[in-house]
Amino acid sequence: MPVPLLDLRAQHAAIRDEVVSALMGVVDSQLFILGGAVETLETQVAELSKTKYAIGCASGTDALLLALRALDIGRGDEVITTPFTFFATAGTIHNVGATPVFVDIEPQSFNIAPHAIAEAMSSKTKAIIPVDLFGQMAEIEKVAAVAKGTPIIEDAAQSIGARRQIGGSWRMAGEVATMGTLSFFPSKNLGAYGDGGMIVTQDQALATRLRRLRVHGGAKQYFHDEVGYNSRLDTIQAAVLSAKLPHLADWSQKRRENARYYTEALCGIDGVCTPTIDPKNESIFNQYTIRAQRRDDLQAHLKSKQIGTAIYYPLPLHLQPCFAYLGYREGSCPESEKASKEVLSLPVYPELRRSQLDEVVDAIRSFYEQ
Ligand SMILES: Cc1ncc(COP(=O)(O)O)c(C=O)c1O
Repeated sequence: MPVPLLDLRAQHAAIRDEVVSALMGVVDSQLFILGGAVETLETQVAELSKTKYAIGCASGTDALLLALRALDIGRGDEVITTPFTFFATAGTIHNVGATPVFVDIEPQSFNIAPHAIAEAMSSKTKAIIPVDLFGQMAEIEKVAAVAKGTPIIEDAAQSIGARRQIGGSWRMAGEVATMGTLSFFPSKNLGAYGDGGMIVTQDQALATRLRRLRVHGGAKQYFHDEVGYNSRLDTIQAAVLSAKLPHLADWSQKRRENARYYTEALCGIDGVCTPTIDPKNESIFNQYTIRAQRRDDLQAHLKSKQIGTAIYYPLPLHLQPCFAYLGYREGSCPESEKASKEVLSLPVYPELRRSQLDEVVDAIRSFYEQ
């Protein structure tokens, strides 16, 4: 039986009536721009993230862009981030006119190394963007310690609902950073039926500025205090997301159970290194990512058995052609480069059946034992 990397149709089948009814509510109201459904979702996500404010926008990419703009970051400024992430994390830094400064990751978590941030801080550093990769929060309190007051934008695109124990209490993704940015891209744990994003923050002034920036920079229609964007969260998407949100905790729990099953089954196989989750973290496993010897051959073997996998990410950002002007070379961020050659993400979505998990495990075992 094929095991796709992700099967959104399985999820849709289980919740179709709830979502279609919410979606049709917007269609019948004919109120498509902002309005009640967006405000409701913003309240719900702020509650989940334990933040005072949440501001919907068009995508996770725009959430980063708006957050950078809200901090007045632009030409001549530097923003420190990880090269082992989705392109948008650094693309947005470039697009506001600032310079991305890439520092290496911790090999266990794949997340940015706080000590490397400390070494890269300069008088030009205007923000730090740690990424909660694959659903596991970065060591945000350690990032804050080295930031010494420099704003932190937590790229939580892959980690809505993830938590980390800090000083003995659980803190949510986005809760303790200056701003947290979320993506509702369909493959995320909370996925829209198209693009969507949100910024969460405890800061009222930033929230006000972000609301203005997402509507062309004008708090009052047709009067513009600054030049912003058209980056509203689509009202239909907000209704879909509110209908899906009550299921999120259960979906993330099932992903954790699938992850545990894989880890127990795979840990004895020579050639595979299962993901390490910091005991202080509760991951939402947006991805279950192993390190594999002969990774590309393993991927081809799994493909031949109709098992879907993905490589997140095959080329770290400091080595992307578009960032050649920054002058990084092979060896600049060795742990990120090593990870990009070894990682392989396996199917971990909540609707997977036990027999499918076994199929994946058996196929991996047969590859290394053949
Ligand atoms: C780490 C990270 N940052 C930013 C983004 C951008 O989000 P979006 O695709 O919603 O623009 C994504 C989504 O793929 C992501 O995984």
